[in-house]
Amino acid sequence: MTIDPRLTASSPATPMSENGLFLADVWDGLGASPKALPAKYFYDAAGSALFEQITALPEYYPTRTELGILDERGPDIAALLPDGAALVEFGSGSTAKLRRLLRHLPGLSAYLPVDVSGDFLREQAETLRGDFPDLTVEPVVADFTRPFTLPEGFKGRALAGFFPGSTIGNFEPGEAARLLDVFGRILGTGAMLVLGVDLVKDRAVLEAAYDDAAGVTAAFNLNLITRINRELDGEIDPDSFAHRAFFNEAASRIEMHLVSRRAQTVRVAGRSFAFAEGESIHTENSYKYTLDGFRALAARAGWASLEAWTDPDGLFSLHALRRED
Ligand code: TRP
Repeated sequence: MTIDPRLTASSPATPMSENGLFLADVWDGLGASPKALPAKYFYDAAGSALFEQITALPEYYPTRTELGILDERGPDIAALLPDGAALVEFGSGSTAKLRRLLRHLPGLSAYLPVDVSGDFLREQAETLRGDFPDLTVEPVVADFTRPFTLPEGFKGRALAGFFPGSTIGNFEPGEAARLLDVFGRILGTGAMLVLGVDLVKDRAVLEAAYDDAAGVTAAFNLNLITRINRELDGEIDPDSFAHRAFFNEAASRIEMHLVSRRAQTVRVAGRSFAFAEGESIHTENSYKYTLDGFRALAARAGWASLEAWTDPDGLFSLHALRRED
């Protein structure tokens, strides 16, 4: 089974050389039924800035809640980690969460951020080295959704993985399990994995987090259209689409869509795509788990649960897993 390319690692910007792939994905997605676009294209410069704003919104509880759990449980994580271990972060966004964790892990020997964007990684590595002079920072340019090898010298070392932000929830459950298995193969038997997982909760709380009053999440979703217009010679009126986010309880996921406000035909680089009024483009899923539901998924992928921590309101969870033989 392969990972849905819609859901592979996001990079802050897509270089020009990748525009052929972007166009192919957009033509495929708008030609499909139902229509869908790969979530990874949200993150151009404007999209990344909007996402930063989302993480600070009053309705968007995941970021601040996860930071709180990391602060509170940092000592517990440190106790589970062997001295001299190296920490591998799969996909490295803002370093805020990592910094919270590092404070509690003075015994850590090295930090290996893995991301597809080399420029971003090098910048990030430089600032971290300045702030943590004793820490070896060794960036790895790779797509973390596919097996990759760690730099020489890190194989056989005590390793731990870090995957915050409930990014695991943006993958279909089968793909999430496959991804966890990939992590396990990279880190090896006995390795630890610390990851953030958003929890099932009241529909109103979930839906507000993905459809905030200030309209930032709507702007983030609609920015995909602006990006298609700019980078792919698209002629889509962003005002003719509406942001829609809802909790699909049967699938236990938030779905984000761009809904056509009217019947229309849009053009992208010479190709036309017809929309009925109310027809949507599915742009993102964010799966929500129960603690036991996530433990079962991890177990299927070869990871045993060591600990699972939540905030006092039970909004978000942080799991510590151990890779079995
Ligand atoms: N993984 C996070 C989540 O699902 C971040 C995220 C991905 C997100 N896409 C998003 C947040 C779209 C808001 C809107 O919550």
